Amino acid sequence: MDLVGLSLPLLLVFWQWTTTTGAAVTYWTYTGSVGQSKWAEYFPDCGGKAQSPVDVATVQTQYDPSLGPLTPLGYSQHGNKPFSLYNNGHTVVVPLPGWMGLGGLPWQFTAVQMHLHWGSEAPEAGGSEHTINGQSTAAELHVVHYNSELYPNMSVAMTQQDGLAVLGVLIETGEEANPAFWNILNYLGRVRHAGQSVSIPAFDVQSLLPSDLGRYYRYNGSLTTPPCFQSVLWTLFTETVKMSHTQVREGVCDGDFLMLEFKASLCPPLL
Ligand SMILES: *[C@@H]1O[C@H](CO)[C@@H](O)[C@H](O)[C@H]1NC(C)=O
Ligand SMILES: *[C@@H]1O[C@H](CO)[C@@H](O)[C@H](O)[C@H]1NC(C)=O
Repeated sequence: MDLVGLSLPLLLVFWQWTTTTGAAVTYWTYTGSVGQSKWAEYFPDCGGKAQSPVDVATVQTQYDPSLGPLTPLGYSQHGNKPFSLYNNGHTVVVPLPGWMGLGGLPWQFTAVQMHLHWGSEAPEAGGSEHTINGQSTAAELHVVHYNSELYPNMSVAMTQQDGLAVLGVLIETGEEANPAFWNILNYLGRVRHAGQSVSIPAFDVQSLLPSDLGRYYRYNGSLTTPPCFQSVLWTLFTETVKMSHTQVREGVCDGDFLMLEFKASLCPPLL
């Protein structure tokens, strides 16, 4: 189990943050006393100029002929070692093996983890973080990489300029189930509590991505949650992927820990 490997970077981040600001909050939520409107008081970077997510106003985007297609490296070579699925108290995270990376960016980037955002409102309201022309989608997948050419590891890179590259995939509700996502959804019920981790069969991570990797929105932004470091080169694919209504509901009920009041009406009670 990769519990240690995963909790270590998180601890280091908090350590780094508390020592640079002298404050003591390492805990945050989306609502309440350390909710989103208060993040900047406790995590100064959350008040930065390049805060993600953003709304992509397509009329304001500019075509950049210097950008090439992105190449996922080793995403399909998952090997035989199982992956793990970990509930960090905010979302479910799948740590990724270090041989996975990204080509087609100005530096070499190494994969770290992926996670999903289901949103904190009703699924009909849309759970994606990024929006296109004000429109959200049901959910959003993030695949996180760090700049392994400039920095020694994720904890250093995430605080630095050009430190991270994150792929954003908007997920829409469609008619058919998306088999690739069962690789994660099937196991969500086993990590319902913060700190829980389960081992899952390794799978082809590229199967979660849209087929057209050549069209995307690129911008310099930040981590979307505290500590909000302004270190992320974002790639938001224009092509969305689809998953069924059942799959979205499964994700919201089992994979989102932020919306307890709402869940009471939508989801079956926890056993
Ligand atoms: C990351 O690299 C820094 C600098 O080399 C080092 O001090 C730190 O222990 C490393 N962190 C992890 C989690 O390996
Ligand atoms: C992002 O910032 C880097 C400098 O750190 C710059 O070279 C690059 O052009 C910026 N990319 C976009 C899309 O603004």
